[in-house]
Amino acid sequence: MKIISSIEELRDQLSGQLRTAFVPTMGNLHEGHLSLMRLARKHGDPVVASIFVNRLQFGPNEDFDKYPRTFQADVEKLEKEGVYVLFAPTEKDMYPEPQEYRVRPPDDLGNTLEGEFRPGFFTGVTTVVLKLLSCVQPRVAVFGKKDYQQLMIVRNMCRQFALPTNIIAAETWRADDGLALSSRNMYLSAAERAEAPALYQNLNFVAEEMRAGHLDTFQLERKAMDELAKRGWQPDYISIRKRNDLQPPTAGDLAQGSPLVVLAAAKLGTTRLIDNLEI
Ligand code: PAF
Repeated sequence: MKIISSIEELRDQLSGQLRTAFVPTMGNLHEGHLSLMRLARKHGDPVVASIFVNRLQFGPNEDFDKYPRTFQADVEKLEKEGVYVLFAPTEKDMYPEPQEYRVRPPDDLGNTLEGEFRPGFFTGVTTVVLKLLSCVQPRVAVFGKKDYQQLMIVRNMCRQFALPTNIIAAETWRADDGLALSSRNMYLSAAERAEAPALYQNLNFVAEEMRAGHLDTFQLERKAMDELAKRGWQPDYISIRKRNDLQPPTAGDLAQGSPLVVLAAAKLGTTRLIDNLEI
C-alpha cells in the first residue's frame, strides 16, 4: 500500500485510473470501516482510503484534539484489506491556505438533527468531502449509513454539482449486543459500554411501535427520549423522519406509508453517540 500525503503526488499516482473506489475516514479504523473497504472493492478498483481528522467539522467545544489517532494500527488494517493507496494528508497539505470557499448544505437538511446540535458540522463535512473527491476523482465513494444524514447530504451534493462519483451506502456494522461501531465508543467506560446498546434498543422500540400501527410520532419520540433520560442518558433527539428528505412526516405521509427512518443522538456521560434505524 502506498501512503501519500501530498495532493500532487496522489494525482500522479492515480492518473489514468477510471474505476477508483474511495473510502474517506478520520482513522481509528474498526470493523465498520473495514466493511466499507470490502464494499468499495466490490464496486471498483483500485481501492483508495483516506485518513484525515478534519478540523472544519468540529465545533470549538468538541473533541478535535482528543479524537483518537491510531495511524500505525490503521495502516496495518488497510494493508490487510488490500487497499492500494492511503491518502493521509497533513492539515497543511489539505488546507495550505485558510479554506475560505466552503460548501453549505441547504438549511432544511443541514441545520436539522445533527446540524441543529452541531452548528457548522455539515459545512465542514461537505467542504472536506468535495475536496477529497476532487483529489481522488473516484468513480464511487462509500459512506456508512451510521451517519445517515451525512450520507444523504453528500449524495445530494454530488448530484447537485454533477460530480462523476456515485455514492454507495454501506449498512451499519454492529457489535453483537447491537451497539453501532464508532470511533467514539472507545471513550466509554466499562459501565457505559454495557449501557450503550440501550440506544439501539430504543430505536427498535420506536420502529416496532410504528410497524404495529402506533403512528403518534411525537408521543413515541417523547417516550423513547424519556426512557433514555431515566437510564441516565442526555438525549439530544430521537426523531422519526422521512427517508427521502429527512423531514418530519405529515399525517398524509404516514397514511401513505412513506418510508421512514428513526434517528437518535444522545450523550452517555461525556460521550455523544448517534444511531438510526430504517422503519
Ligand atoms: O464520517 C467521517 O468519518 C467524516 O465525516 C468524513 C466523511 C471522513 C469527512 O471528514
